Amino acid sequence: MTFRDDATLFVPGGLIDDNRGDGLFRVRRSTMTSEEILKLEHERVFDRCWLYLGHDSELAEPGDYRRRRIAKRSIIFVRGKDGEVRAFHNACSHRGAIVCRHDAGNAKAFQCFYHAWTFNTEGDLVGIPGNEAYKDGGFAKGDRGLTPVPRLEQYKGFWFLSFRADIMPLDEYLADAKDILDMVVDQSPSGQMRVQDGTHLYSMRANWKLLVENSVDGYHGMPTHQTYFEYVISAGGVGEGSKKLFGTAQALGNGHAVIHYWSPWGRPVARWVPQMGEDAKPEIEQIRAEMEERHGEAKAEQMCEFNRNMIIYPNLVINDIMATTIRTFYPVAPDMMEISAWSLAPVEETGPRAKTRLHNFLEFLGPGGFATPDDVEALDSCQLGFNAGGEEWNDVSRGMKREPQYDDELQMRSFWRQWAADMEGRTIDSWDDGIPTRSPLAAAP
Ligand code: FES
Ligand code: FE
Repeated sequence: MTFRDDATLFVPGGLIDDNRGDGLFRVRRSTMTSEEILKLEHERVFDRCWLYLGHDSELAEPGDYRRRRIAKRSIIFVRGKDGEVRAFHNACSHRGAIVCRHDAGNAKAFQCFYHAWTFNTEGDLVGIPGNEAYKDGGFAKGDRGLTPVPRLEQYKGFWFLSFRADIMPLDEYLADAKDILDMVVDQSPSGQMRVQDGTHLYSMRANWKLLVENSVDGYHGMPTHQTYFEYVISAGGVGEGSKKLFGTAQALGNGHAVIHYWSPWGRPVARWVPQMGEDAKPEIEQIRAEMEERHGEAKAEQMCEFNRNMIIYPNLVINDIMATTIRTFYPVAPDMMEISAWSLAPVEETGPRAKTRLHNFLEFLGPGGFATPDDVEALDSCQLGFNAGGEEWNDVSRGMKREPQYDDELQMRSFWRQWAADMEGRTIDSWDDGIPTRSPLAAAP
């Protein structure tokens, strides 16, 4: 039976079963195995949302570019000689060949290798071999340039594009996710963050939405990553080992959501643990004092003490934990996704803190690190379980009738509510369960 034959999928309760009254929330497993669903996701989710393209710091100099694959399209993300950031479909206006054939670099121009049409970094067509052969003596400058993406906007250095020209402004789309992005960016005294060199590229044999869930899943940490936590404790990475994890979850509007949680391991900004070494202590204390001065005690405490895992709908994860990670991923099949991840740091950060951050990015979050292989195995395993038949629904009800906790599943329900609304062509204005989220500062046990 194909998806379209299954008349129950697009009726209320077909894709998700959202029962706030009884505190039950279920997701149909076929949403993660069906080719038809994937096809519709491209039309109704990826082609109608703001999608993360890259960070301003990746294009530090005029002519710097990155080639990115966004929702099946090859895109050139480039800072022109005039200093402006632009994004173009990576396709020659002559007969379609890819004009940018490297993932990163600095270019004076992009020359198509097929017939050598040449485009400057502002996208203008500036060279055609034998131009006089075309009508009226040849194409003029301004004709046949690279095609810009329909929409391109940034928030504090995070650039997003949309393939939908009439989408709401990015600022409105991000809703309360801006508050969390502010907490990330404000870790830098100058408000400037930079993506560190190097990209993690990997894949999983799992549906992309499983990684949305996993990236904000406070419930899986201990069982899935037990080996890592044993290692951290043995390496002196736990400052206050007797204190247990605690925190809250928050729907941020438009399908975005975050978990805030205190953890016994340190944060490069700005909680010291023995693993960082004595040398790092005075610097971290000084940073903490500066943060209090700049942001006040309560906000500084939240920024320094608490971790944040955020999903910006549909597929951007910002995890501000022992390293700050930008992660985005796209499906290539219902049961396969490709993931890219980068480490983000304050431009001022140097020395032991910078070293700790990069170490954590590799050691915990990298595809060859302690955590990601565990998560890859867990998500692969879910996909295998979906194919094993039997139960047709996933349960995502955890904590639905209580004040949202970091290890509950409100953050996933928020995503799924937006996703189901997009897939069914509905609009919604409520992403939470109807129970307010407290500040994580008030959630201490
Ligand atoms: Fe690019 Fe011909 S396809 S120059
Ligand atoms: Fe994990």
